[in-house]
Amino acid sequence: MQSTQVVIIGAGPSGLMLSRLLHQEGIESIVLERRTRGYVEARIRAGLLERGTVELLVKAGVGARMLREGLVHDGFELAFDGRIHRIDLKGLAGESVTVYGQTEIQKDLAQACEASGATLVYGAEDVAFADLDERRPRVSYTCAGARHEIACELVAGCDGYHGASRQAIPREAIRLHERIYPFGWLGVLADVPPVSQELIYAVHERGFALCSMRSRTRSRYYVQCALQDSVEDWPDSRFWDEIRSRLPAAYAQRMETGPSIEKSIAPLRSFVAEPMRYGRLFLVGDAAHIVPPTGAKGLNLAAADVRVLHEAMVSYFRNGSSTLLDGYSTRALGRVWKATRFSWWFTMLTHRFSEETFARKLQIAELEYLAESSAASRTLAENYVGLRFQ
Ligand code: FAD
Ligand code: PHB
Repeated sequence: MQSTQVVIIGAGPSGLMLSRLLHQEGIESIVLERRTRGYVEARIRAGLLERGTVELLVKAGVGARMLREGLVHDGFELAFDGRIHRIDLKGLAGESVTVYGQTEIQKDLAQACEASGATLVYGAEDVAFADLDERRPRVSYTCAGARHEIACELVAGCDGYHGASRQAIPREAIRLHERIYPFGWLGVLADVPPVSQELIYAVHERGFALCSMRSRTRSRYYVQCALQDSVEDWPDSRFWDEIRSRLPAAYAQRMETGPSIEKSIAPLRSFVAEPMRYGRLFLVGDAAHIVPPTGAKGLNLAAADVRVLHEAMVSYFRNGSSTLLDGYSTRALGRVWKATRFSWWFTMLTHRFSEETFARKLQIAELEYLAESSAASRTLAENYVGLRFQ
């Protein structure tokens, strides 16, 4: 049987970040990932980073390319009812956000892990756990047809919403909170210059639309779509017509279109599992919580969990103290619930929910209030750039 200090399940951004940060403190880990490295690195997902996430990546020694190539945004635009209101993030909250794709973060992290000789096992199937509530838990998995087992001291469940870690917690030891939204986001990636230098969140009768980007030559655009839609229902021409119809005329005219290089539909959900711990298993990132993408909190929350957990693990291995590990779930959940609230609120404010005119009128009233009140705009800006760490 192999043995290590920490077994990390999942080589997504949270798993690799944790492995890096532990390695820098001389703590040994083994990362078990179900998919191939190529698959993980090609998955198009997040693109907007809070300052805290940028800082953590720098601390993990993988910040150089992000600092060079990432686009710093000092604000974004809200388009509604024929008008455009800019949220001045820098002026209102004193912070900016950085546009840098999750695909690039994955590549930077995997490269750094590889260079430092970290043990990353791709194609690790059927992960199973034993003695999670004992002093020395074990994790087993199958790779290339052979079954392996690792003894360790701590386990980090960084395996996303559909992973095995949360499922391994007895039903009576965990509480799940969930809200499903009655629509999805259809996302398109295309090698065309972004329609504007900043992001545009557009509220429209036909539904929400978002113009984001990955670089000065690559755009990431989304439209709210029906839950039952599939990508086959959305040939490129329909997508471009639809997003243009939801944008202010000046942007619609200016928007460059081109063949999609990726197209996918994501359902929207809010989900929190608590506590984020069972015995020696600690849940991190999407394994413990999901937010709708409006406001871009998912990856940033995963990074915030890693920040708290790696400090706790360092304290445990260095001083033999469990105090920070015992406080992990409470500390992480404080931030999780605030981001859950913000993502829910921003989704409710910007999406089309029903034909009902009352709800629609309230949305427009709140958007107008945001545009008129610097206090309301500041609240949005503070949450968007990321709340201070407590
Ligand atoms: P994941 O990225 O899900 O990684 C989990 C890993 O575990 C995966 O590699 C998976 O293959 C592996 N795994 C799963 N099960 C097992 C198993 N049984 N055994 C071994 N390995 C397993 N967030 C933002 O902050 N900003 C954004 O702009 C943003 N935009 C988004 C847009 C879209 C369309 C989507 C879908 C998400 C977006 N997010 C965004 C959310 C963000 O992508 C996630 O929150 C983030 O990927 C979470 O990282 P993670 O490491 O916790 O989980
Ligand atoms: C993205 O670029 O994927 C993105 C940006 C901002 C959001 C959501 C997604 O609010």
